[in-house]
Amino acid sequence: MRGILLAGGTGSRLKRLTRITNKHLLPIYDRSMVEWAVEAMVAAGIDEMLLVTGGEHIGSFLRILGDGTSYGLKSLSFAVQEKAGGIAEALGLGEQFADGKPVVVMLADNIFEHSFKQTIDAFRGDDTTCRLVLSEMEDPAHLAHLGVAAFDENGSVKSIIEKPSDPPSNFAVTGVYCYPADVFSIVKTLKPSARGELEVTDLNNHYIAEGSIGHDVQPGFWGDAGESIDAYQQVGEYVARNGANHPVNR
Ligand code: G1P
Repeated sequence: MRGILLAGGTGSRLKRLTRITNKHLLPIYDRSMVEWAVEAMVAAGIDEMLLVTGGEHIGSFLRILGDGTSYGLKSLSFAVQEKAGGIAEALGLGEQFADGKPVVVMLADNIFEHSFKQTIDAFRGDDTTCRLVLSEMEDPAHLAHLGVAAFDENGSVKSIIEKPSDPPSNFAVTGVYCYPADVFSIVKTLKPSARGELEVTDLNNHYIAEGSIGHDVQPGFWGDAGESIDAYQQVGEYVARNGANHPVNR
């Protein structure tokens, strides 16, 4: 399965730390943030990967990850996102890499206690339906900084609200998304949001409107280490104590 790892953006919410480097190169316990994400993708069954990042620090990613084989990848390629045009724009850069096949997309600042392999396995079984990984947040204070799912009476996701002031549930949309092969044509139809970016939530809401959406609730801890400086600290402390990417039935 092919995976696109998104490691761009300006890192403005971690500013001071990101003055001289990319957010995803910052340490989480004993390795850089991006390594935890690569390991998560490999544990979930991704064997060919494209890493998308801004041009400025691409050499540092290459120094850390090399050709990806030491992490268990068959291949690792790189693409440059010229400006911070949003998550959906970054993923659009993977069209040639995907080569007409479905893809799994991950935001490289997301850290999971348990592997999300069961989601990728389910997506293999039906790769024409978009599949999301949700996480129930113990501390609802995070929800205002994330995408949050609203559910219909059957328990299906009926919409996603980005950074809601009044969250419709306690279930955050994590940064792991499984997309059918048509995702690249849909990205081309998206319009920039008020902040001038192509939003992943608009893309996901497109699949919801088509009735082509599935989801899993991820067990255990999940954190977006780029959400804020406090979240970065909290995720780092969690990982130092517990590690990450464990099989679900350990
Ligand atoms: C992005 C998505 C948001 C999601 C989050 C997960 O937010 O837009 O829906 O919940 O990633 O990490 P961002 O971190 O770009 O603000």
